[in-house]
Amino acid sequence: MNVLDSELIASSLVQAGYELVDSPRDADTILYNTCSVRQHAEDKIYSALGRLRPLKERKPQTIIGVLGCMAQKDQELIFRRAGHVDLVVGPGQLSRLPEILEEVASQRHREPRLEVSLDRMKERRSLVEESFTKFDPPRPSELRSSPFQAMVRIMFGCDKFCTYCIVPKVRGPEQSRPAAEIVDEVRRLAADGCLEVTLLGQTVNSYEDPSEGRTLRLSDLLARLHDIDGLRRIKFVTNYPRHMTDDLLQAVRDLPKVSPYLHVPAQSGSNEQLKRMKRGYTVEYYREMIERIRSILPGAAITSDFIVGFCGETEEDFQQSVDLVRWARFKNSFIFKYSERPGTKAAGTLPDDVPDEVKRQRNNELLAVQNAISLEDTLPLAGQDIEVLVEGPSKAAKKRASVGDEAVQLVGRSVRDHIVVFDGPQVLVGQIMPVRIEKVDAFTLFGRL
Ligand code: 5AD
Ligand code: SF4
Repeated sequence: MNVLDSELIASSLVQAGYELVDSPRDADTILYNTCSVRQHAEDKIYSALGRLRPLKERKPQTIIGVLGCMAQKDQELIFRRAGHVDLVVGPGQLSRLPEILEEVASQRHREPRLEVSLDRMKERRSLVEESFTKFDPPRPSELRSSPFQAMVRIMFGCDKFCTYCIVPKVRGPEQSRPAAEIVDEVRRLAADGCLEVTLLGQTVNSYEDPSEGRTLRLSDLLARLHDIDGLRRIKFVTNYPRHMTDDLLQAVRDLPKVSPYLHVPAQSGSNEQLKRMKRGYTVEYYREMIERIRSILPGAAITSDFIVGFCGETEEDFQQSVDLVRWARFKNSFIFKYSERPGTKAAGTLPDDVPDEVKRQRNNELLAVQNAISLEDTLPLAGQDIEVLVEGPSKAAKKRASVGDEAVQLVGRSVRDHIVVFDGPQVLVGQIMPVRIEKVDAFTLFGRL
């Protein structure tokens, strides 16, 4: 969501006459779009801001801004910790950024400028919803990470309030975008050469649009998007386990453009922990859901997120997460050490009592179990032919200059989100090609055209 916001910010500023430069030294405006889901992400921003201090002293007219979730969360604190910051703009105010920047630039004596949405703990829901203004401006292909792929927001915010999570507070109440608007956006992207869209929402499968008389769900939206000419692949993230309904799984099964790839974070395999996290399901429910996915969509890639070392997690609780990973055989899992977030329910009521060293050990152990499974399940892909959307030269190939139709190492993705590396001419970039897999490791498939 954060990467998408960065692309949209760049697009709206280019539209307003700004130009992107390669280095902060050449910039008259420097903006950080921030994440606050874990402490580490915030620490990186504060140290990056610190490194800008000498530049700001040399060129005081340079505008420095902090945007996004950390802006909404820390507000004035950012000015106190980094006095050289000129503006702090939350994720619900990004649509006004060009106008805010213009006002800041025209001020003779610059005052710190704070633009954030209302606090949902203090104000009426409808007012808070309004204060998170929609932001999905058109964007040219050169400002996306790839001209052939695009992220498309279908929902804002989150209403789940998992006790460890800052997102509902900083991204505001859950609101779905009208289906007609999304279809329009994807149609424009497809006309512009985009082959793959990834629909984004914090709980993407609880999408609901009542604006057409009957409630449209994600399965209905997928069916509409499926009809768009030129579009070849549709993915969606992130799913909430409680909303993994049969109509959605059947839509994934019946619509060939929809990738059989489902990211459904479990977070923990212990009922005690799931309750403390307020995830709203038991591990028995989660397992039953995985079985349902496997029976409707045999062969689908399922991925997960886990938090280790959340408040009160015993060794036994942790081993239940290990059991779940072993049982579910996820394609891969993202594993995070619990990071206390001021402003969440957990930070206010539950002590962060698992030592960091234990969190680290558990992180490594769970990752090792997951990686062994990823490798085992990837091995049988050797010898198979897989369709790959070619994204571009691999990192190694980018370093070597190449000319014309010379074969270079290319990288792309399968519908199940496997990374595939193979040699081929650059003209294949942006095409979907069959590749025969010859060799695999846990995360990458190596093949031949
Ligand atoms: N600490 C650690 N991980 C977190 N996540 C969310 N909040 C926290 C936190 N406070 C993880 C969850 C979520 C992913 C995006 O980040 O696993 O699914
Ligand atoms: Fe955070 Fe839970 Fe919402 Fe995901 S569902 S964004 S973890 S509160």
